[in-house]
Amino acid sequence: MISLEKFKELVLEGIPTEIPAKKAYDKNINHAPIRKDILTKEEKQLAIKNALRYFPKHQHAELAKDFADELKTYGRIYMYRYRPDYEIKARNINEFPHQSKQAAAIMLMIFNNLDNAVAQHPHELITYGGNGAVFQNWAQFRLTLKYLAEMTDEQTLVMYSGHPMGLYPSHKDAPRVVVTNGMVIPNYSKPDDWERFNALGVSQYGQMTAGSYMYIGPQGIVHGTTITVLNACRKIAKNANEGTEGKLFVTSGLGGMSGAQPKAGNIAGVVSITAEINPKAAYKRHEQGWVDEVIEDTDKAIDTALEWKAKKQPHSIAYLGNIVDLWERMVERDIKVDIGSDQTSLHNPWAGGYYPVGLSYEEANEMMAEKPELFKEKVHQSLVRQIAAINKLSDNGMYFFDYGNAFLLESSRAGADVMKADGLTFKYPSYVQDIMGPMCFDYGFGPFRWVCTSNKPEDLDKTDKIAEKVLLKLAEEAPEEITQQMKDNIRWIQQAKENKLVVGSQARILYADALGRIKIAEAFNEAIKSGEITAPVVLGRDHHDVSGTDSPFRETSNIYDGSQFTADMAIHNVIGDSFRGATWVSIHNGGGVGWGEVINGGFGMLLDGSDDADRRLKMMLHWDVNNGISRRSWARNEGAIFAIKRAMEENPNLKVTLPELVDDNIVKGLF
Ligand SMILES: NC(=O)c1ccc[n+]([C@@H]2O[C@H](COP(=O)([O-])OP(=O)(O)OC[C@H]3O[C@@H](n4cnc5c(N)ncnc54)[C@H](O)[C@@H]3O)[C@@H](O)[C@H]2O)c1
Repeated sequence: MISLEKFKELVLEGIPTEIPAKKAYDKNINHAPIRKDILTKEEKQLAIKNALRYFPKHQHAELAKDFADELKTYGRIYMYRYRPDYEIKARNINEFPHQSKQAAAIMLMIFNNLDNAVAQHPHELITYGGNGAVFQNWAQFRLTLKYLAEMTDEQTLVMYSGHPMGLYPSHKDAPRVVVTNGMVIPNYSKPDDWERFNALGVSQYGQMTAGSYMYIGPQGIVHGTTITVLNACRKIAKNANEGTEGKLFVTSGLGGMSGAQPKAGNIAGVVSITAEINPKAAYKRHEQGWVDEVIEDTDKAIDTALEWKAKKQPHSIAYLGNIVDLWERMVERDIKVDIGSDQTSLHNPWAGGYYPVGLSYEEANEMMAEKPELFKEKVHQSLVRQIAAINKLSDNGMYFFDYGNAFLLESSRAGADVMKADGLTFKYPSYVQDIMGPMCFDYGFGPFRWVCTSNKPEDLDKTDKIAEKVLLKLAEEAPEEITQQMKDNIRWIQQAKENKLVVGSQARILYADALGRIKIAEAFNEAIKSGEITAPVVLGRDHHDVSGTDSPFRETSNIYDGSQFTADMAIHNVIGDSFRGATWVSIHNGGGVGWGEVINGGFGMLLDGSDDADRRLKMMLHWDVNNGISRRSWARNEGAIFAIKRAMEENPNLKVTLPELVDDNIVKGLF
């Protein structure tokens, strides 16, 4: 155990003056797949030169060899030997050396993103989604921490895809950190461009909350998934009284986000089978209590699910195998599945996000690095088979939806039978088109979250109670249109503690609209001021929200005025948040559905009980939600028109351009 004083000293040291000893490759840790060998000889030399920029000249010869070995072995230069010796995890904010409380809060959030218990591939600095990076290498980690520890509230740290460009003079209301991840010239945004730029050490895939330091473990996603499964059940219910009991939900993935599915299924009250090919991922979720049992035999998994379905009791099964084998067996046995989805990482199909049927986990890992073209073929064949099985089960009454993982997109690219007769639209909706968009985002409801920087569970309990009280009061006067959302979230916060959702930092999530977010934040700030909550609270959200993300196949898939391929909303969001008081902001290319497919942004805001924090939260949270509602309203989304009119009534300074609705008969026959 390293003492607190020593820990602070090591953080402040930054990149050590002496080259640290090499570290053994820890086989007990889940490691990122080996990335494909994409650079030319000259580019490899450039990658080494790029990496050596962090170190003094006299160390270059020794480090160059080491980094070249890493590049040859892993396809990337992680600088493993620079991984610190202290434990990386969320601590009390005061334990981080700092001049600025805001900067210390950001350190806490970075540490949480790289905690071994939280991160998917912690030694490769990947938080989730297979390639969602916080930094590209350990030198960047060390240097960033040093900057954060030394900076004041009159400076802003600028981050280029994990690289700390430096500290720049600013002012106390400016963000302490501005992050960009994977921002490239649009024509250079193909998956192989990411492989190349990342291998060169000049860009990274930040996913959403990985590269923006806002990941809170699988809890965030448990909540979103619970809401999705509940509302999916409502969609297929024959009447308003039909509940979720006895419904069978079949899906795949027990990774970073997908690992939330069985737990969410249990909370929603359904029976679920989640296929997972990687034993480490499946057993990790089982040990954490996120899935009830792991079954390796396909028929046994199905039979067990049917038993629980008959009992009408919630139960979750991890099927250790390939999802395609499970679907195909279900077709053979003519199983009635109620709800189906998929959460393999198809935003990253060629580098470990999707494991094709017919290959073992190890065989697939080998093939993707050594025979990438053959691997691509196998993925395509597998997706064709997967869709064929899903089509049959859907003909038999299954409600299937895309889970925002580019499953339908990649299946269509693979030539699977997934398009409607018009050849333009998919046979199945995305969960945003059918559920999240019209039921949540259009009304401003999205994944608001907070982290108690005391790192004390008691503080989290207090925030739960405060949030519940605020929501109960708001629900008394809420219009009918948002009552269901309010009720779902009140129930969620009431049960959150007993559902034991915390992994890593003391964090909580719920869905709230602009008013809900502002009122909860105000109440937290008051409670910090009065000492009821013992330390500052970080506010934030997933990028997967009302305003933060332009993503035509996910967050903005329920935008039908043709603007779903524009990215003005996300850019405006991050700019608007930054001058309204966010503590840090970030804008990324490629979270969730893939590099080049989405622009998304987020923020973090520290509430410290001050009047400044009160002023900032009101301004920033108002914009952070109403920006997206305005755009959704302009796209003629009914719920959003309702919500923005309501927001304008509440604040006369808000004046939003509203759409005039056009009668279809006016345009019919014009061309
Ligand atoms: N949960 C959500 O609300 C949500 C929302 C939007 C998008 N997503 C998307 O879902 C995907 C999954 O996210 P993640 O963080 O869990 O990624 P992840 O890479 O951590 O997990 C995916 C898991 O799928 C497994 N897998 C891959 N192919 C398989 C196969 N053929 N059969 C069985 N298992 C297989 C992998 O072993 C891995 O454990 C991502 O594309 C993400 O963007 C999730």
